[in-house]
Amino acid sequence: MRAYDVIKNKRDGKKLTQTEIQFMIKGFVDGSIPDYQMAALLMAVYFKGMDEEETYWLTDCMRTSGDIIALEGIEGVTVDKHSTGGVGDKTSLVLGPVLASLGLKVAKMSGRGLGHTGGTIDKLESIKGFSCELTTEQFIDAVNSTGVVIVGQTGNLVPADKKIYALRDVTATVDSIPLIAASIMSKKLAVANKVLVLDVKVGSGAFMKNLEDARELARLMVKIGTQAGRKVTAVLSNMDEPLGEMIGNAVEVKEAIDTLRNQGPESFTRLIKTLAAQALVMADKVTAEEAEKKVEQVIADKTAYNKFLEMVKIQGGDVSMIEDYSKLPTARQTVELKSDKDGFVKEIHCEEIGLAAMMLGAGRETKDSVIDMAVGLKLIKHVGDEVKSGDTIAEIFVNPDLDNSKAIQRLKDAISISPEKVTAQPLILDIIS
Ligand code: URA
Repeated sequence: MRAYDVIKNKRDGKKLTQTEIQFMIKGFVDGSIPDYQMAALLMAVYFKGMDEEETYWLTDCMRTSGDIIALEGIEGVTVDKHSTGGVGDKTSLVLGPVLASLGLKVAKMSGRGLGHTGGTIDKLESIKGFSCELTTEQFIDAVNSTGVVIVGQTGNLVPADKKIYALRDVTATVDSIPLIAASIMSKKLAVANKVLVLDVKVGSGAFMKNLEDARELARLMVKIGTQAGRKVTAVLSNMDEPLGEMIGNAVEVKEAIDTLRNQGPESFTRLIKTLAAQALVMADKVTAEEAEKKVEQVIADKTAYNKFLEMVKIQGGDVSMIEDYSKLPTARQTVELKSDKDGFVKEIHCEEIGLAAMMLGAGRETKDSVIDMAVGLKLIKHVGDEVKSGDTIAEIFVNPDLDNSKAIQRLKDAISISPEKVTAQPLILDIIS
């Protein structure tokens, strides 16, 4: 078999066989197929697409390109969640303890942030002593004992995706639905969780800019997961503005703590209830309504909050920082961003907000950038809210030793005010299972 012929077949719109896909992935990972041939294949897939069967084989070949985490030794139903990425997304910090409180086992591997999206691991590392690097044995023991553990990706998990993603990033082939589905699902299926709830973001801050594309991606991922023997549901949620109110690292941990104490923003709490209920429906065969009641209960009676404390403790974190979160890293100066006109908030451009937060120091421009855990922002106004000239739209938490003027201007430009009334989109746009 020759890479040339596989590329030509896809270029001409033919369906690739499992053997052809395997040949390309294996060869690319072991170095026998060069970047330029894989790049040509990716571009052919971008234009000609892949059907469900091809996408399944691509996912499976990528999944088996490295380590498989069997999760042997974990008693009970293991559950994972994946978000397709957004700004202000602190969902795992709350959802993990909520699900563990309801008897599920959450053995979560999360990533670090790069560019406009923050990473769960970075946020957790704002808690002094918190370790996201556990050995496999420690990881399994900790999950059995607390029900929830969040660690960084370990080992050689799906090397095919690392290499292919790097190439997609520089060849304008990221936004292809079969390539995104295979990339996400290969990583999810490499860890042997039984239940998977996908949070597919839709809007200006997401990979999927419209509902139609998001539905197509969600259906494809649910199908791939189901075919692989997992229970999978996708929740489509709005990312036309950041999730919740806080964007940063320590500030997002604070918002997660508020939510676990039943004092979180309404929209973020709604997303948590929806995702948790869907996971429970798959694990316990309860109805969505019954599941939501259970979720509300463990938040209201602080069981989920106490689970979070247990998780922080077992991962070496300073629990006193959670009990009194003024001990978490806190910025020395707050700048208020004020509206200069009357009207209604029309748009809070997610990607621009994420990039401005990165410029303040809350995110990484390159893999080696050092994050300032204390900086970030709080959105006071949301899409649809009425504002008067002089009202505070956002509080910006800055390091006063830096010149933050460009970041602040970028934040200002990311928020548009319209003279006409604006109706905000609902947060939950669809559920596909
Ligand atoms: N997230 C991933 O992991 N892969 C993609 O291709 C897109 C989003």
